[in-house]
Amino acid sequence: MAEKRPVKITETILRDAHQSLIATRMPTEFMLPILEKLDKVGYNSLECWGGATFDASLRFLKEDPWDRLRKIKDGCPNTPLQMLFRGQNILGYRPYADDVVDAFVERSVANGIDIIRIFDCLNDLRNLEAAVNSTNKIKQREGRGHAQIALSYTLGDAYTMEYWTDMAKKIEEMGADSICIKDMAGLLVPYKAAELVKAMKEVTKLPIQLHTHYTSGVASMTYLKAVEAGVDVIDCAMSPFALGTSQPATEVMVETFKGTEYDTGFDQNLLAEIADYFRPYRDECLASGLLNPKVMGVDIKTLLYQVPGGMLSNMVSQLKEQNAEDKYYDVLKEIPAVRKDLGEPPLVTPSSQIVGTQAVFNVLMGERYKMATDQTKDVLRGKYGQTVKPMSQEVIDKVIPGEERITCRPADLIDNEMEKLESEMKEWKQQDEDVLSYALFPQVATDFFKYRKAQQDKVDLSKADTANGAYPV
Ligand code: CO
Repeated sequence: MAEKRPVKITETILRDAHQSLIATRMPTEFMLPILEKLDKVGYNSLECWGGATFDASLRFLKEDPWDRLRKIKDGCPNTPLQMLFRGQNILGYRPYADDVVDAFVERSVANGIDIIRIFDCLNDLRNLEAAVNSTNKIKQREGRGHAQIALSYTLGDAYTMEYWTDMAKKIEEMGADSICIKDMAGLLVPYKAAELVKAMKEVTKLPIQLHTHYTSGVASMTYLKAVEAGVDVIDCAMSPFALGTSQPATEVMVETFKGTEYDTGFDQNLLAEIADYFRPYRDECLASGLLNPKVMGVDIKTLLYQVPGGMLSNMVSQLKEQNAEDKYYDVLKEIPAVRKDLGEPPLVTPSSQIVGTQAVFNVLMGERYKMATDQTKDVLRGKYGQTVKPMSQEVIDKVIPGEERITCRPADLIDNEMEKLESEMKEWKQQDEDVLSYALFPQVATDFFKYRKAQQDKVDLSKADTANGAYPV
């Protein structure tokens, strides 16, 4: 047998798996009892925070996301914790000033995050500089913190092998600790993955991690070929929340490499115990409708239209609201056209929502760009950064006629915001992290702070009653 080169696995069940399958609704209380076992597996990391979890915790679960992170860290002291971070957009939907990015990275690591996976929806590396520099600063100071830069994988004329290898070189020069190929739509097919990983390995010494989704049905094969080509880490989800729009199953990949030079050495019995814990919850989600069997199948349309699964479901609900479900295929055709007009960006949060919503507008209005969303205007203005291809001059002239466009790093034009944000929310502040929750989702966070206060008042009241001996008779 060749020299051992065990493939490493990042477990996504506490973040991407439930974000992809059950709208990010897994509550912290359900996660806690299984942490001890997850911590024993030997994962490269446990992805458990960031992405949509922050928003969903505050908005739907009425939970403090920071509190979740601290509890997971307590329960998983031996496994590095990983989060997903949207570059200058942090975990929100607009670009923030550098001081907010800095504070967010600092608090994330302080509360338990080890690996920060940072991506930009346009692959504009300038939008990742602040987050990478913040992480590196903390690493120097505290010896903890790993900056992983993720390239949003997409298809299109501009995305040649030279493009990807050139990006890999630049990422290494930026001081990142590793690279992730982030295939959010499941577009990376097995032989292409092998070619891509080999080419990137030739130009960089950084470890390469592969993240994909099972949506189009090829993902496990893509991992197999990528591992053979030298990829270092793959993202998998425990079987009850794997496949469909989620990741390939952890147990399946572990078994695939057993006895080979890539053997993970993981204990299948331990993995089976973990799966036993999650399986009844999956059944509950199916029974309640939270898990829609539709997202569990193979969706070959994603290969045809190159649209991430989440984007399709958003589009369907937008059309439903307008009683225009018959326009589904018109919008599907309009999406690549809008994408081209906007410089052919990858489709990932928030560019996926921006392109999708504009495509719906274009079709429903019966005239392209008769109405443009504020976000479309900002993309055309250059506020989200530079796209790999030039944007359509015709569309620029129609939507933002005569306006000057930004060519510098967009955040250079945003003044520091932390002081202002803190003054706006100080009546609710109970911990430094609250300012950051407010920064990302001002309305949702304020509603959560009110809810939290009301809960605390209830508890205080019952204590006061007891202290006075004022039991009801
Ligand atoms: Co993902």
